[in-house]
Amino acid sequence: MKFEKNILCIGAGYVGGPSMAVFALKCPQYKITVADVNKDRIKAWNSDKLPVYEPGLDEVVRETRGRNLFFDTNIAKCIKEADIIFVSVNTPTKTFGIGAGKAANLQFVEKVAREILKESDSNKIVVEKSTLPVKTAEALKRILYSDHEKGVHFQVVSNPEFLAEGTAIEDMKDPDRVLIGSEQTPEGIRARDEIVEIYANWVPREKIITANIWSSELSKLVANAFLAQRVSSINSISALCERTGADINEVSYAIGCDSRIGPKFLKASVGFGGSCFKKDILNLVYIAQSYGLKEVADYWEQVITMNEYQETRFVDRMVRLMFNTVTDKKIALLGFAFKTNTGDTRESPAILISKKLIEEKAEVVITDPKALENARKDLADYKDLVTFEDDPYKAAEGAHAIAILTAWEQYATLDYKRIYDAMEHPAFIFDGCNLLDINKMYELGFNIIPLGRPSRARDI
Ligand code: UDX
Ligand code: ADP
Repeated sequence: MKFEKNILCIGAGYVGGPSMAVFALKCPQYKITVADVNKDRIKAWNSDKLPVYEPGLDEVVRETRGRNLFFDTNIAKCIKEADIIFVSVNTPTKTFGIGAGKAANLQFVEKVAREILKESDSNKIVVEKSTLPVKTAEALKRILYSDHEKGVHFQVVSNPEFLAEGTAIEDMKDPDRVLIGSEQTPEGIRARDEIVEIYANWVPREKIITANIWSSELSKLVANAFLAQRVSSINSISALCERTGADINEVSYAIGCDSRIGPKFLKASVGFGGSCFKKDILNLVYIAQSYGLKEVADYWEQVITMNEYQETRFVDRMVRLMFNTVTDKKIALLGFAFKTNTGDTRESPAILISKKLIEEKAEVVITDPKALENARKDLADYKDLVTFEDDPYKAAEGAHAIAILTAWEQYATLDYKRIYDAMEHPAFIFDGCNLLDINKMYELGFNIIPLGRPSRARDI
């Protein structure tokens, strides 16, 4: 079959894979290829066990793979064939040199740009889709426009990704908005319109926003910074609730009813995780600092400080309430993913909480329906000091305490009587997700310690 366009995405991760699967679903007239240097990843994308868990993803891949969706490792060949190339490689925070701990490490993006330049023998639109700091497009352009002899022209377009893990497929199918930034030249606008056309296959035109390239790049960082700020704001108040007897759920509800504030993203938690929030704020802080905007940088950095405080506060409180020692006590952690409906554990608060408990010499058992494989990797340095268990009932057997760290639905409906009977007594539940009915748990015999809400406990 002859396809209308050849679209390539370089990087088959959490962003590249699901977003291209939806492109393929919604645009059967295009050939969509996802390429990656990681051969195992591509093999997994071509198998029945996809490397990324997302509700609805399996179905979309099953319908499109081999029809107009392809996964490949031959990047050079794929570049040659492509009209439009999305760059969706990872951009971790730099761990060394200038900007260490804050700036994005652009080595993977740069490498891809050089590869595109080397392999291209026809004009192409290059779309930055990874989360990238402001002015990355500039860096891409500098590389791509550097070979004047070649006679091949590139246009760099920014199309930031706003999808959230766990709802990636729904978010792609029905986005709040799609943002496309381009140079404001006739060629830039032509390239932008080609990307608009792809999305217009299923997204209403009024939801497709266009902007200059820097606004587009900055909007991505700012959107994540605002979302994270809401979580840190409510988490800061959860600490105050615990001291005053107020209930964070009641406060969230009351303030969320103000239409100017709105009800979303006001759920207190053990802290935000995920690959984006911390990295994007650090980036924002770094950019502000590099322009000499100290107050701006300090303002946003506080969002991260508050998040670290929330994680630490939760685990410190566990230790304190368990009579100031958890040494040799079995503690079952229910949930390790940074949120529900994903197996992703990047920046999950569960990592810090587990490490601190292990350092306190607790016997830590971790259970999670999707994230155990990643949890094992995250805690590889502690592998003899922690156990992993598929079955939450087994994880809780003989435990002194359980802590709920991810709000998996199934944890709300476990048989807590059975769990209580199999635990050591006094038995504690630290409900970091406010998932359980406080009075019911108390009546079963537990000391129940929710987050930002009044506890009910006999033994403290
Ligand atoms: C985020 C952005 O939402 C998305 O637009 C962007 O493209 C990538 O980063 P994601 O990291 O997948 O998506 O998860 P998100 O749903 O935003 O949650 C982030 C963290 O905040 C999670 O740890 C979640 O548990 C926490 N959170 C969220 C809260 O603690 N309380 C809330 O009310 C909402
Ligand atoms: P994200 O959450 O941004 O999608 P991931 O780490 O899940 O990040 O995915 C990024 C993918 O990009 C990884 O699978 C990685 O192997 C791939 N990648 C990194 N550098 C290159 C490169 N030069 N060429 C092709 N793929 C790359």
